[in-house]
Amino acid sequence: MTPAGKGRTIAPAKGKLGVLLPGMGAVATTFIAGVESVRRGLAKPIGSLTQMGTVRLGKRTDKRSPAIKDLVPLASLDDLVFGGWDPIPDSAYVAAKKAGVLDDKDVEPIKDFMDGIKPWPAVFDPQYVKKLSGPHVKKGKSLRDMADQVSADIARFKKDNGLDRLVMVWCGSTEVYRKATDVQSSIEKFEKGLDNSDPNILPSMIYAYCAIKEGIPYCNGAPNLSADFPAMVELARKTGSPIGGKDFKTGQTLMKTILSPGFKARLLGMNGWYSTNILGNRDGEVLDDPESFKSKEVSKLGVLEYILQPKLYPELYGNISHVVRINYYPPRGDNKEGWDNIDIFGWMGYPMQIKVDFLCRDSILAAPIVLDLALFSDLAKRAGMSGIQEWLSFYFKSPQTAEGLYPEHDIFIQLMKLKNTLRHLRGEELITHLGLEYYD
Ligand SMILES: NC(=O)c1ccc[n+]([C@@H]2O[C@H](COP(=O)([O-])OP(=O)(O)OC[C@H]3O[C@@H](n4cnc5c(N)ncnc54)[C@H](O)[C@@H]3O)[C@@H](O)[C@H]2O)c1
Repeated sequence: MTPAGKGRTIAPAKGKLGVLLPGMGAVATTFIAGVESVRRGLAKPIGSLTQMGTVRLGKRTDKRSPAIKDLVPLASLDDLVFGGWDPIPDSAYVAAKKAGVLDDKDVEPIKDFMDGIKPWPAVFDPQYVKKLSGPHVKKGKSLRDMADQVSADIARFKKDNGLDRLVMVWCGSTEVYRKATDVQSSIEKFEKGLDNSDPNILPSMIYAYCAIKEGIPYCNGAPNLSADFPAMVELARKTGSPIGGKDFKTGQTLMKTILSPGFKARLLGMNGWYSTNILGNRDGEVLDDPESFKSKEVSKLGVLEYILQPKLYPELYGNISHVVRINYYPPRGDNKEGWDNIDIFGWMGYPMQIKVDFLCRDSILAAPIVLDLALFSDLAKRAGMSGIQEWLSFYFKSPQTAEGLYPEHDIFIQLMKLKNTLRHLRGEELITHLGLEYYD
């Protein structure tokens, strides 16, 4: 309980928090390197709400805007311990060097720390990530056997490091597009599927299952289903695990969810939005496979439909061509360039065009999201919140929601929801922005 006696009971963030990362490539190593650099006073956690954000409490005239980390008890960066899996056996240091996101001046000073983080063998099957092969994989007679090995890794990591709590954030490659099937419809069927090595169970689902079964919060940074199906949602409720996904909101989709609420607010019409980009990292290579791209495309396309509400505004948004392309272009590495051409129209139907050229750095945008998801999902767990955490939609391209509920994509509504959730947790008044009281 908060001092005022309102709000939720939140267990303190005592002891160490283990951050489990299936997939230790560009995003995961940029995240780890950033946390370690911040801990050593070498960098600032820019882009992270948990580290730099504030929340206004009470009336505008009250002048109360504490830091988020002072309002709610979050794990301290000093208490984070990292572990993970990858089919490529490189240490976090080698993986960070190969990913080429960070300059040597930022990686070399923390070399010893990064080199000490070595991935455990992965549950990996190249039929689900076609452009990748890796020797560092688990062997087993069944998917159940693989799951048992992942659970053993988790238990060992917890014991060896004297961890108090754990969270898992999927930072692995995007798997091929699959819809949920009968095996994902209930816990019983999913568990039977593990015993029978059902081909509809993909590796990411095995990690998610192992975490959620133990009550460990699970967030999914890629667009593949992973934990977004009834069996896993049911398991999360049963074991008290907070879950969230899918697909970190970075780059072009971030821009889309920043710009389109503005056009909609001013009731400017739209005929089309064409997004294309060049990307040269391993993620770009994996997404060069049409089946992995399909997962990404589905995740990216939903955004405009939900923000612009064409059914409510057929004259403005009833006929939009929305096209998304990703082109693998090695020379650019992680430094993506994304072009957007937006065809809008205004008063009396006159057309206008907007061009956006975003020279972004994918993993630089994704790393603070991994940190915030780890800390907020741990907070949710300690506050007794389980199942889908819609208040974390802010971080995802394709937010997971309760059955029958459409996702909220507008980044400003998502932020308001996130901050109101924090106020609610602490028994503070929710902010509606009505503000009539200032004029009474
Ligand atoms: N801004 C971003 O970078 C961004 C934004 C949204 C989503 N994502 C998603 O995040 C994920 C990571 O992106 P990245 O740039 O770090 O890619 P990456 O290719 O550098 O890293 C992914 C890592 O996952 C590993 N991997 C693949 N299958 C695995 C498995 N079954 N178990 C364990 N490890 C496995 C790969 O070997 C690789 O090292 C991708 O799915 C990507 O689509 C990234």
